[in-house]
Amino acid sequence: MSTQTNQQVRLASRPVGLPTSDNWQLVEEPLAPLEEGQVRVKVLYLSLDPAMRGWMNEGKSYIRPVAIGETMRAGAVGRVVESRSGRFAVGEHVSGAFGVQRFWTGAADDQGNPLVKIDPALASLPAWLNVLGMPGMTAYFGLLEVGQPKAGETVVVSAAAGAVGMTVGQVAKHLGCRVVGIAGGADKCRFVVEQLGFDACIDYKEGQVAQGLKQHCPNGVDVYFDNVGGEILDTVLTRINMKARIVICGAISQYNNTAPVRGPANYLSLLVNRARMEGMVVFDFAPRYPEAVARLAQWLREGSFKSREHVVEGLENFPAALLMLFEGKNFGKLVLKIADA
Ligand SMILES: NC(=O)c1ccc[n+]([C@@H]2O[C@H](COP(=O)([O-])OP(=O)(O)OC[C@H]3O[C@@H](n4cnc5c(N)ncnc54)[C@H](OP(=O)(O)O)[C@@H]3O)[C@@H](O)[C@H]2O)c1
Repeated sequence: MSTQTNQQVRLASRPVGLPTSDNWQLVEEPLAPLEEGQVRVKVLYLSLDPAMRGWMNEGKSYIRPVAIGETMRAGAVGRVVESRSGRFAVGEHVSGAFGVQRFWTGAADDQGNPLVKIDPALASLPAWLNVLGMPGMTAYFGLLEVGQPKAGETVVVSAAAGAVGMTVGQVAKHLGCRVVGIAGGADKCRFVVEQLGFDACIDYKEGQVAQGLKQHCPNGVDVYFDNVGGEILDTVLTRINMKARIVICGAISQYNNTAPVRGPANYLSLLVNRARMEGMVVFDFAPRYPEAVARLAQWLREGSFKSREHVVEGLENFPAALLMLFEGKNFGKLVLKIADA
């Protein structure tokens, strides 16, 4: 492939259940010359997100579905390699919704897909897709604005070793909360406690979530940050306190269901406990991202906060890499390396 050629992974068909290789098409095409006001970005790292599964479906959601034949939507970081805009110089690092492709070309001032300068001296490029990127923003605003934890309260978070979960737990520790994670497997649980400083972690694959909550949340659960939905959500609902807050961030256990989504059977616990369950979408907080980035970057710099990424290489490996999220094979934020910086 010459530098004048782009490669893209496009959506070929809509999946039923888990995506398969048939749902994707790898396409190669020449790069058009830049127009006035445009920039070209060489994509270096792509963010692989559970939400991608939802974007592949037809139907109304918080964002329009990816169309058949369209390049798959993806957040990414990259380097400006050509510019016909005074706003961005060649060599600068930027983040944006560049899609699953090697080069992104677009207007420097596109309000619908804003280009944001990032500083690789502040944190590694993959960390800009994690703690300082979309998952970090989700965790930060979802916890603070919807969860509203107070010092001394107990915060439980599922998918605790993943991108959103690791930041939720660490922010909650910074606020003086008791933090209990739920994750799949002994290694992830050990990491969450020993490296991230959570107070405890329950291995749901051992099938002892109810027992673990009883043991590790002796004062009940004040905030549950839900990343997985399904049975784990139902179990946590049995342990919530009066006026508890449940943050509906995601429900990864349900995304590939061919049967209807399983809702919380124990929802009457909300009534009994005068509790609240509220959904959040990170994009609503976009104007406030700089405030979160400044605080999280400060903690990273001080060494009181960790960012862990799981890097897989190669654009052509996108279809297989995406599935890792649904099998719990990612250990930390899953990113796909597309090119050397
Ligand atoms: N609302 C928003 O604006 C927003 C924004 C970003 C992300 N999210 C949501 O946040 C959640 C976490 O996303 P992320 O990017 O941080 O992913 P992640 O946690 O880094 O990766 C997904 C993890 O989910 C766990 N998982 C997969 N299938 C599961 C199942 N059936 N039951 C329980 N756990 C399962 C796996 O961890 P284990 O090995 O521990 O099982 C896997 O590693 C997702 O639900 C995502 O959709 C929402």
